[in-house]
Amino acid sequence: MIVIASDHAGFKLKEGLIKYFNENQIAYKDLGTNNEESVDYPDYGIKLAEEFIKGGYELGIVICGTGIGISIAANKVKGIRAALIYSLETAELAKKHNDANVISFGGRTTKLEDAIKYLEVYRQTKFEKRHQKRIDKINEYEVK
Ligand code: RB5
Repeated sequence: MIVIASDHAGFKLKEGLIKYFNENQIAYKDLGTNNEESVDYPDYGIKLAEEFIKGGYELGIVICGTGIGISIAANKVKGIRAALIYSLETAELAKKHNDANVISFGGRTTKLEDAIKYLEVYRQTKFEKRHQKRIDKINEYEVK
């Protein structure tokens, strides 16, 4: 199950991804926003992160204009590793090296067809255990 949220600037890309999920029988939960009326990206980044951390999700997707603000917001929630994805390489390495559990796209910077490619590369990539000690350092800092 994928959980997805965006602000107004990410709404169109979110709608495109949801169409792709529906066409490909990919289960998802949409946390809004539901139109292009201006909203604040922290509300959606934090909402998504808090929902993801409850458990039961394969990954979270956040989208704002650039993907930057909403990933910063999501990363404030303990246990979230949100990564801005903007290429095939960052899609692969976000999983392989960082074990990102939330991925972020820019609705104004990334085309739907590219976002779908990045999403599928991320989903097909496995985390490399040799990077675990770095993740552990982040986790240890979070509990301090
Ligand atoms: C909204 O105009 C825009 O600032 C927001 O979507 C995002 O790009 C922030 O990082």
